Amino acid sequence: MDIRTVGVVGAGQMGNGIAHVFALSGFDVVLNDISTDALDKAVSLIDRNIERQVSRGKVSAEDKATAMGRITTTTKLPDLGPCDLIIEAATERETVKQAIFEDLLPHIQPHTILTSNTSSISITRLASRTDRPERFMGFHFMNPVPVMQLVELIRGIATDEPTYKTLLGVVEKLGKTAASAEDFPAFIVNRILMPMINEAVYTLYEGVGSVRSIDQSLKLGANHPMGPLELADFIGLDTCLAIMNVLHDGLADTKYRPCPLLVKYVEAGWLGRKTERGFYDYRGEEPVPTR
Ligand code: CAA
Repeated sequence: MDIRTVGVVGAGQMGNGIAHVFALSGFDVVLNDISTDALDKAVSLIDRNIERQVSRGKVSAEDKATAMGRITTTTKLPDLGPCDLIIEAATERETVKQAIFEDLLPHIQPHTILTSNTSSISITRLASRTDRPERFMGFHFMNPVPVMQLVELIRGIATDEPTYKTLLGVVEKLGKTAASAEDFPAFIVNRILMPMINEAVYTLYEGVGSVRSIDQSLKLGANHPMGPLELADFIGLDTCLAIMNVLHDGLADTKYRPCPLLVKYVEAGWLGRKTERGFYDYRGEEPVPTR
């Protein structure tokens, strides 16, 4: 199936990165959010991030202008009606995602493929609440989307082969690499990454190391580009906790128990970079550990 127009629901951290890479790869993009402010911020961030690629000689100024021209924004879900492919990238809460798909259904075309950028929620369950479980898939991008090479493709139990093949083709057109995962809690990347981050928080909670020593250990001792606590702040501590809860509930194994300190940070509203405070405080010149 030929995909030309792509709808992206949610203009946050993931949605704006997804819109960025699709527009640069020649797709028309309709970016949706309930807030005009979020849409304005997303477009200026996309502009800045593509400009970063222009200044490093990775994208031409002409391609940047063409890509920016391919992005339209809307606060109304029905405006996504003409899209061939829709990627839901809203908050990581199942009720929110279900409501979005329910609102979209009356407006989309019979051939439209629905996808979710969920990092952990059951694709089969989300799909079962729509009229097209065979044309529904998990389409999971990594943050920062313009930089990270991987896209996880997750088939629900009912996803058909043409839908999977179409998305493989889309990933190829984006110049990224697909990894296929089965539809079990948190798929592949987060099944492995989140318990590591959670263990880093336990390591802090139990006083084995400080924020700095834990991050330094994994950066210099295991060659990770970011330490696990720095990475948790980057991803968002609310997202990390939501994924640990999905693993804990879905696999019923105590090894996935979210660290109480992670819960405490989320309760405080210290969610990482997006709120300027998490395991580090980002309000000054340099990030300063908060413990
Ligand atoms: N848009 C465009 N380009 C960007 C960008 C963006 N948003 N962010 C960074 N870049 C580019 C920079 O311009 C730079 O380009 P060059 O290589 O041409 O110089 C390059 O990326 C590296 O950026 P920086 O020099 O600013 O910084 P860095 O070298 O410290 O790298 C990083 C930053 C790429 C984020 C690196 O620290 C990293 O890889 N961190 C780990 C990220 C990670 O693990 N992500 C996965 C999270 S898990 C997930 O997303 C799944 C989930 O469901 C939770």
